[in-house]
Amino acid sequence: TEVSARTAEIVERLAGLEGPLLPILHEVQADFGYLPQESLTVIAHALNLSRAEVHGVASFYHDFRKAPAGRHVLKLCRAEACQSMGSDAVAERIKRLLGIDFHQTTLDGAVTLEPVYCLGLCACAPSAMLDGEVIGRLDAAKADEIVAEVRA
Ligand code: FES
Repeated sequence: TEVSARTAEIVERLAGLEGPLLPILHEVQADFGYLPQESLTVIAHALNLSRAEVHGVASFYHDFRKAPAGRHVLKLCRAEACQSMGSDAVAERIKRLLGIDFHQTTLDGAVTLEPVYCLGLCACAPSAMLDGEVIGRLDAAKADEIVAEVRA
């Protein structure tokens, strides 16, 4: 299939690296936007690893997605400085409004919610990132605005 062929091409290009698994996973996600199950099988086979091993590595890192992302990706900072400024309450509010948990995508495909661990914006905590744009001083009102925007 197309997915297998593109994955095999990436593997071939990067297999010579020392510790090729992570670079290959990154490249596959950059190509497809997520890690298709089929790709994991191709990678395991090519690197002589079990599927469980490849899967284990893929699930260990928060950056890897198991499914395509929604039209918007909202990342909420869960690290310490943001937590001390109330990020948990805002995260709960956003999860409730969207009806999803971290690592999930709304049923209409509008938005994927992901945790992130420090955006380097601690001075404006709590912070978030929507489609690559950083948002500081996240409060309930801003959270509601963001939810309205991604839903539009
Ligand atoms: Fe959230 Fe640094 S801890 S931006």
